[in-house]
Amino acid sequence: MTALTAEGLVLRGWEPGDAAALVEIYRDPAMLRWTRFPVTTAAEAEVWVANQQEGWAANTRHSFAVLDDERLVGCVALKRGIEVGYWTAAHARGRDVASRAVRALTAWAIGNGVTTLELRHQVDNEASCRVAEKSGFRLRETLPATPPWPLPGHLHLRTG
Ligand SMILES: CC(C)(COP(=O)(O)OP(=O)(O)OC[C@H]1O[C@@H](n2cnc3c(N)ncnc32)[C@H](O)[C@@H]1OP(=O)(O)O)[C@@H](O)C(=O)NCCC(=O)NCCS
Repeated sequence: MTALTAEGLVLRGWEPGDAAALVEIYRDPAMLRWTRFPVTTAAEAEVWVANQQEGWAANTRHSFAVLDDERLVGCVALKRGIEVGYWTAAHARGRDVASRAVRALTAWAIGNGVTTLELRHQVDNEASCRVAEKSGFRLRETLPATPPWPLPGHLHLRTG
């Protein structure tokens, strides 16, 4: 499995040993609000990690744990070979973790032949919009609300 470096961060595949930290990280209203598959128990965290590993095996979802000084601080993923997703643990926000991770993932994807990358967020997720801008994803259009998201979204694009 690929491991990447990202301006001081390390991006590696998910491991079963990440489950306990995941449960702690998801005890956060922003994580519950903005992520699609919340983790609330150890069992759910183990399933979540297994899903990330299966995504790599199936080549459908390339999800990386983001570590700062060996501590789990975030997640960045390339979904279906085209769409970037991410979160940062509350304790690590505001230090460019997501932006550094997205830039590294983007360089890795482009290096592997991906020509256009998409990034979507709901319009009121202003921190996510900043991550897109700081990672070189230009706003392409505003999309209608799509369940489970109640408000319109931004589609940002970056080309290789
Ligand atoms: C969005 C998220 C990933 C950002 O992570 P991060 O590691 O703090 O991101 P960065 O430090 O790289 O950049 C955050 C930027 O958003 C800005 N920001 C943070 N909160 C903000 C707010 N409420 N309104 C406007 N800007 C905000 C920061 O100031 C920073 O911009 P700056 O560098 O110009 O000052 C993080 O807040 C998070 O995990 N949220 C919950 C999950 C989520 O929303 N994921 C994305 C779904 S599309």
